[in-house]
Order: sequence, then structure tokens, then C-alpha cells
Amino acid sequence: MCGIVGYIGHRDAFPIIIEGLKRLEYRGYDSAGIALFDGKNLKVSKTKGKVADLEKRVNKEISTNGSIGIGHTRWATHGVPNDVNAHPHYSNSGDLVIIHNGIIENYESLKKELVKRGYTFKSDTDTEVLINLIEDVKSKENVKLGKAVQVALNQVVGAYAIAVFDKNKPDEIVIARLGSPLAVGVGENEFFIASDASPFLEYTKNAIYLEDEEMAIIKANKEIKIRKIKDDSLVDPYVQELQMNLEQIEKGGYDHFMLKEIFEQPSAIKDTYRGRMLVKEGIIRMAGIDDNIEKFINANRIIIVACGTSWHAGLVAEYIFEDMARIPVEVEYASEFRYRNPVITNKDVVIAISQSGETADTLAAIKLAKTHGAFVFGVCNVVGSSIARETHAGAYTHAGPEIGVASTKAFTTQITLLTLIALKLAKVKGEISNSDYRYHLQELELIPEKVEKALKSEEHIKMIAAKYKNARNFLYLGRGYNFPVALEGALKLKEISYIHAEGYPAAEMKHGPIALIDENMPVVVIATKKGHYEKVVSNIEEIKARQGKIIGIVTEGDVNVKKLADYVIEVPESLESLSPLLTTIPLQLLSYHIAVMLEKNVDQPRNLAKSVTVE
Ligand code: F6R
Repeated sequence: MCGIVGYIGHRDAFPIIIEGLKRLEYRGYDSAGIALFDGKNLKVSKTKGKVADLEKRVNKEISTNGSIGIGHTRWATHGVPNDVNAHPHYSNSGDLVIIHNGIIENYESLKKELVKRGYTFKSDTDTEVLINLIEDVKSKENVKLGKAVQVALNQVVGAYAIAVFDKNKPDEIVIARLGSPLAVGVGENEFFIASDASPFLEYTKNAIYLEDEEMAIIKANKEIKIRKIKDDSLVDPYVQELQMNLEQIEKGGYDHFMLKEIFEQPSAIKDTYRGRMLVKEGIIRMAGIDDNIEKFINANRIIIVACGTSWHAGLVAEYIFEDMARIPVEVEYASEFRYRNPVITNKDVVIAISQSGETADTLAAIKLAKTHGAFVFGVCNVVGSSIARETHAGAYTHAGPEIGVASTKAFTTQITLLTLIALKLAKVKGEISNSDYRYHLQELELIPEKVEKALKSEEHIKMIAAKYKNARNFLYLGRGYNFPVALEGALKLKEISYIHAEGYPAAEMKHGPIALIDENMPVVVIATKKGHYEKVVSNIEEIKARQGKIIGIVTEGDVNVKKLADYVIEVPESLESLSPLLTTIPLQLLSYHIAVMLEKNVDQPRNLAKSVTVE
């Protein structure tokens, strides 16, 4: 979703903002813009397209001097992606400019009032309404910019992260957030503003994360004042030291972030269990679980809320929790859950899974669950994210920054973490024997090595990708623990190669999808040794009988599927419950290489955003 970058200090703002916007490209966007104050004039340049297009345009259109400015990448919500709707937006007087991430839901009624008062609008955006509302308050009430922003925001319904600048007050930027993230990098006599810390990581490791309903007035002379938007009370800035480093957010020799992140999975999985799983001692420790163990073991049920790939990880977790810990689990799309008046009680534990920790629907589902008294536990990757802060307790996945829009290492680390939780609960509840429990720990410890081995099939997978890259449809089948992996494999292919793909539980095939099978339909079947192997082999026979093309994901040394399939991709043997951590790998690589061969924008697929901060 939209990205925000701003700078106020002693350096040239332009390169900081442009490079910062490039770092935020992964969030997904369709236009970009910048406002710079060169000491005398406030200049805006914006364009549909990429940050590189903006860079070219700025160099032709405006002076790039100045040590204060704001920049934006826009992911269209109100109004098509074009130059006019791109941010920043001026107010009618031309004195104020704004960049905005989020949606102003009551913009139509606010616009009507402003039109009555003589305001005109160039764009179709809700953002232009907001900047004129701020201007209207400022002139009507004769107040400073900060106050005008505050009063205006109290009239707004919706979500926002904004940065506002007034050319008559060129030593300050006003920012505010509700529902969309905003971080402030604190340097020596300088401040950086951004949707996340990546744009300012090379300048400072000190960051303040604005909380919801907070605003800040940031001055060039090193002052930052944070206030509550509702009641104007002052908030002490909490400066935290960032643990991320620059290497983590660069491609490190890989062609794409997605490929880098696929290959990072052995270390990401290890980082997720390191320090939490003591194999020799037979201990799993996680503060968020240990401190709330009673809540988990006395829960009537666990409700998992998530979206997209995180929802698929939730489905895998359902199998693990029920199978090992014998706790009933329901897995819900957060977007449905939040609106369907679900039955939630204070005996429920809700687990919210989110890589970004900013997904608007998941956040809303959490808030709803809390109002019903449920205990809410977060499984997030981004430290300090909104979901991590909104939940009662939680645990981070430690996957490191995931920049490619298609989620890869987030998925496998979420499964790793949820497996640890399930094993811990199974042990505490006495649902698993000591030897079985220890065996699971040993096997989980071996997974990074096995993922490493699975990654070695890349060249073979490339050959298969070349063979099927022109197919218009794919079917993905799996059973048990690997049914969610089939869904995830299909999602990966859809989102980066734009090929239609469906995931199904293998046995459901004959209840409909089998009608689709002919010689043009590649069917990816997960047929690993443990778990319904014979039944899946029968499904493969059924596909074969209808001339479908079979790509089998099989256990090393498999012979049966090899005889039937057009191609097989082997993964090392493992426990059934851990097999999704391995079977996912070839599916990620298959979709990656198909997308590369089709010359698609792998890291920034069309229409998609990395963190979906609007509903
Ligand atoms: C798919 C993908 C999305 C996200 C979904 C939830 O590759 O990345 O489906 O999984 O938008 O995002 P988070 O996990 O950040 O809540």
C-alpha cells in the first residue's frame, strides 16, 4: 500500500526521499510524487508509474535543492492511478501540501461542505479533501498548522498516515497516524519520516513509532512533539533502537527479493526456533506462551484469524493444534470474521497471524475479539507493528524483512512458530508422549538442513517451469497437512505469473474440478510418503486416465508416483506434520521461475501491495 517518506534537517532532501521511496516500492504502488521546499518555493512533481519515472520527471520539472520535503508512492483507492491523483496534493491556496496513506471514509460529505464554502478539487482523491479541510480549519479558526491538522482529523472517519507541510512555516512537518504505520528516524539535528524504517536505516538506528491516534510536530531544530489527536495531551517520545541492518533489505546478489527470501528459509526457520527450542533438554520456551499457558490450555477453542498466505499458515496450524494438542481450532478469513457477527467468548483464544503486522482486516478482527473478552495472541514478523502492539501477547517469527510481495519465508516461519506452540501445549496438556515430543523436536531441528536440500532442485524445477510456463490453468492438489500447501502453491503462481490456478484437497477433485482435466491441464500433486500416500496415488491415476499432466512433489526415492507422473520433484523425508515446510519449497521455486520466464515483475506484481492497510 502507499508509502510515505519525509526529511527535515541539514542534508539534501531529494536523494533521501527518492532512495527511500525506492525502498518502499515493495509495498506496491502505481504512482509517485514529491514536494520539496527550496528555501523560497514549494514545488511538487508527480507521475503515474514508477519512482524511476518520478526521478526523471523531477530532474526536468523542479529544482532538487532543499533540505525539507515529503514523498509518496500511491496505491490507488479513490480515483484511477494517474498524474493528477498521485500525491502530494496542494490545498486550494497552494500553501499546504499533504501525502496520505489510508482512506478517508466520510470524504464525500466533507467535500460537499467544502464545495459549499467555495473550495474546488482537481483530483478524485479523498486526500485532496483532507488537505482542504485542514486549510479551511486553519483559516477559519486562525490556528497554526499543527492545531489545524488536529481539529481536521477529529472530523475524519477512516484510516490515515499523513505528512503535511506549510510553505509559510518551512521549518516543520506535521505527521499523524490512525491505522496506517508511521515511523520517525531520529538523527543528529535531523528527522526522517517513513512508513517503515527501511528508508532511513543507513542514517540512523533510532526510531520512534507513532501509535494510533497520535500526531507529531517535527521541527528542523531537532524538536519533536507528540500529542494525542483526540485530547491534545502530550506523549513522551519513546525512541527505540532498530535491530535491522541494511544488508537484510538489499538483494545480496540475487535477481529478485523473492528468490533471496526463498533461499533464506533455512536460516529464517532456524532463527525462528533458536533460543526457543532446547532439543537436548526437551524444552520449548516462549515468554508469550509461558506467561499465558493457563489461557491456552483452558481455552474452549482457538480461533485463528489471518489473510492470504498467513491464512494458509493458519490452516496448517489447525491440523497441528488439533492433531497434537487436541484443542479445537477454527481458521477464519479476518475480512469475513470481522463483519459476520461471530460467536466469541472469553474462553476463546484468538491467534492473529500476520507477516506485516499491519493488515487492516486482521487488525479489525483482533479489536472485535478483544471487545468480546477473548485473549488475543499475535504471530507477526515485523517488530513493533500495529498487530504486535494490539494483541495481549505474542511471538515474532524472526524471518527478517520480507520485501518480495509474494510471501515465502514468512509462511514457513509462521508454520515453524505455530508448530512450537502446538508441541508446547501438547506437552503441557499431556497429549503427547515424552518420546514422541522429543522426536518432534529433533525432527524440527533438522528441517533447515532438509530445506537446504530441497532448494538444490532449482535447476530441475526451472526445466519444469519452461515446459509449463504457457499453460493457462494449473491445479494444485494435496491432502491433510499438505492441503493448505496446495492452496499456497496456487496462490504463489497466481499472484506473480498471473496464471489461473486452484488449490484443492486431492479427494475433492472428483466432486467437480476433475471436469477441467485434459491434456492441457498441469496438475501439481503433493504426494509425500507419510499421510494418505496411497489415496493420493489413486488420485494421480485418475488424473493420468484423463491425460492431465502430472507434476508430483514426492519423498526422496519414491518409485510409485515416478511411474505415473510426467515429472517429479523430490523433497527429503520428514514427519508428516513438518512436511509443509519442505513441500512448499518446490512450489515457491516453480512459480518464481515461471514468472521470470514470462517476464513478470516478480517482486512487485501488478495490483498487489505488501501490507494491505486498507480493507
Ligand atoms: C501472498 C501474500 C498475501 C499476504 C496477506 C496477509 O503472497 O503475501 O496474501 O499473505 O496480504 O498479509 P500479512 O501476513 O502481512 O497480514
